[in-house]
Amino acid sequence: MPHAIQSRNGAPTPARPETRPGSIQVEPLTCTIGAELAGVSLAEAARDQELFAEIRALLLRYKVLFLRDQDITAAEHVAFASRFGSLEDHPVLGSDPDHPGLVRIYKDLDSKPEHYENAFHCDATWRAHPPMGSVLRCVETPEVGGDTIWVNMAEAYRRLPDDIKARIAPLRARHSIESTFGAALPAEQRHRLKARYPDPEHPVVRTHPETGEQILFVNSFTTHLVNFHTPDNVRFGQDHAPGAANLLNYLIGQAAVPEYQVRWRWQKNSVAIWDNRCTQHYAVQDYWPAVRRMERAGIVGDQPF
Ligand code: SIN
Repeated sequence: MPHAIQSRNGAPTPARPETRPGSIQVEPLTCTIGAELAGVSLAEAARDQELFAEIRALLLRYKVLFLRDQDITAAEHVAFASRFGSLEDHPVLGSDPDHPGLVRIYKDLDSKPEHYENAFHCDATWRAHPPMGSVLRCVETPEVGGDTIWVNMAEAYRRLPDDIKARIAPLRARHSIESTFGAALPAEQRHRLKARYPDPEHPVVRTHPETGEQILFVNSFTTHLVNFHTPDNVRFGQDHAPGAANLLNYLIGQAAVPEYQVRWRWQKNSVAIWDNRCTQHYAVQDYWPAVRRMERAGIVGDQPF
């Protein structure tokens, strides 16, 4: 049962105070990405269109938003995330059985060591329509460690040298679930997974459908460039594989540049909301043996162009 807190004049107020549009306090966390919001309850924002619209506008501006002390239920988590669009489960990670679309990223003491989230990635670019964003809540966190890093991939694109921008403008790349989540599965299951999610092709530079920003759109799900082998790029056939691989590795490496990043330290009931179309993230796995439990509502996205 929610406990009451005392207001300044001594009258009891609900544990989740009403938050009116315009009252959100916004503290940018770096010069390029991320802001922490205070004075807002996501349970309230799930019910209040104006408040939700304010958060949505802040998301477009800061790309990832952070909040503390969101003691919300799974139903409220799902209700807030569903305001952005339909939610989707994950074919390998399990979901809350009572709340479809709420994916459990639980690292328990008896979990097998898994190395899925500790690589810079946009969620699920192995889908033809990768998620537009996610709402991630911390259920349990190690005393120290287990931070997550987000990267502004519009900034990563903007600061590329002009000759690289010209070179990658027409390029497209393939993304794979098979070589990542599928890699540790027995061959038959891996083939079934790939048949269900055939490797899609995405532009190397995508345009944000709402802000119009250009975004560098390759990550650890990207396996290869599909149209690199042209007379402009390749003098001898021999140039093709190393040329394409070197270029792709250079591009993937941009997410590791600290000037484009923000790092967030979790507490129980901290929440991060991110725009998956223009960011990447990396969950640092430095805390073993300790438990870390996160719940993520992933929002269906559109086809990158
Ligand atoms: C994710 O990769 O979507 C999860 C990030 C995290 O667990 O911090």
